[in-house]
Amino acid sequence: MEIVIEKKYFDDSWNFENANTKRLTHCFHSYPAMMIPQVAARIIETYGKNAKLLFDPYCGTGTSLVEANIRNIDAVGTDLNPLARLIAKAKTTPIEIKKLNIFLKEFNDFIFSLQFSGKKDYSVILPKFHNIDYWFTKDVQIKLTILKEYIDNIEDESIKRFFYVAFSETVRDSSLTRNGEFKLYRISEKKLNNFTPDVYGIMVNKLIRNKTGLMEFVQEKKNNSSTHIHSFNTVFGIPENIVSKDSVDIILTSPPYGDSRTTVAYGQFSRLANQWLGFSEASKIDNKLMGGKRNITIKKFGISILDDIIEKIEHKDKNRAKDVYSFYYDYLSSINNISKVVKKSGYACFVVGNRRVKGFTLPTDEITVEIFRKNGFEHIETIIRKIPNKRMPLKNSPTNKVGEKDTTMNYEYIVVMQKI
Ligand SMILES: C[S@@+](CC[C@H](N)C(=O)[O-])C[C@H]1O[C@@H](n2cnc3c(N)ncnc32)[C@H](O)[C@@H]1O
Repeated sequence: MEIVIEKKYFDDSWNFENANTKRLTHCFHSYPAMMIPQVAARIIETYGKNAKLLFDPYCGTGTSLVEANIRNIDAVGTDLNPLARLIAKAKTTPIEIKKLNIFLKEFNDFIFSLQFSGKKDYSVILPKFHNIDYWFTKDVQIKLTILKEYIDNIEDESIKRFFYVAFSETVRDSSLTRNGEFKLYRISEKKLNNFTPDVYGIMVNKLIRNKTGLMEFVQEKKNNSSTHIHSFNTVFGIPENIVSKDSVDIILTSPPYGDSRTTVAYGQFSRLANQWLGFSEASKIDNKLMGGKRNITIKKFGISILDDIIEKIEHKDKNRAKDVYSFYYDYLSSINNISKVVKKSGYACFVVGNRRVKGFTLPTDEITVEIFRKNGFEHIETIIRKIPNKRMPLKNSPTNKVGEKDTTMNYEYIVVMQKI
């Protein structure tokens, strides 16, 4: 027990308070609970010096993959959210800037022709999806449809992806959703009437910003490292032909903090963009993510810190206990599978948050240590850092009732395990 405490410590040098987290392609697209590149970089430099292969089993928009790539490390990522995969792929795909400039020029000319040559009666067939009129004004729907059609016709896959990523953020910024929220809330009635976003202007600005990030990435990635992004669910297994047993030098990831219903709703955050991009089942993503399906019967995991806390929550609220149990049930299966692909002496680095439920803190960092231990790993260290700039709610409702607040995750825990 003493050893565990010695190995877990606060270290403010990991806070990176004023760091620019949007360098390189990290500027491409916002996403909830992103890992900051400085943390990914330092972990790779400490534990992945000679690594050839990095795996991120919940890669989101691919922060760890980008940082691996610029250090000449091949990377594999998986995520169940199609929008996250699209962004991660775009962020790790170098594009020749000369070529990009040609497409950007063509696009600018197209926008110019729309705005200034009277071509305003452009006829479009608007997409149909649930609640489209609730989230987008007619004018915005028409403009987004024009943009989407334009991008659909780009033949070069890398360029098309680059444009889709900017389009996705344009969808968000021109929708009637409130800014700065993870979940979908509509802006107030009062603001509705004055809401006339410059859809084309937003898109152009995103493209310009992302081009700058891409140029930095291309400059820094002077190597042939590759990235592959997939959609398999590590809870159910890892396809041997994609990531084989004992092949990974370093796992670097930030897993979800809990089920999407009660923590960060990745699916909901991405839903409108996913719908515009034509990803079917966009509204069902949250149910597929870890803990998305509630287990009916709570059983013991055989990990006392986890079993005890679930029992305490169960005394207060049976359903919340089931949510928590369901999440860790999936988390445990996922780690059991992940453990098998790590090489002997390879590392698993998990950046986790300890959330509170019903007034109890769930020590996910220690639970992670225990699960990996059961899979033949040794605990190297747990670094505790403050979260100054991560996009996530710092407060949540302990009872899951609107209005009630409780502090959650002001810190994150970097858990480092090594396979023995
Ligand atoms: C904390 S986010 C990762 C953020 C990422 N590090 C970044 O910087 O963008 C967790 C991700 O896990 C994904 N996820 C949740 N359950 C999953 C599962 N069973 N398999 C794969 N991905 C999953 C979510 O879609 C989400 O993108």
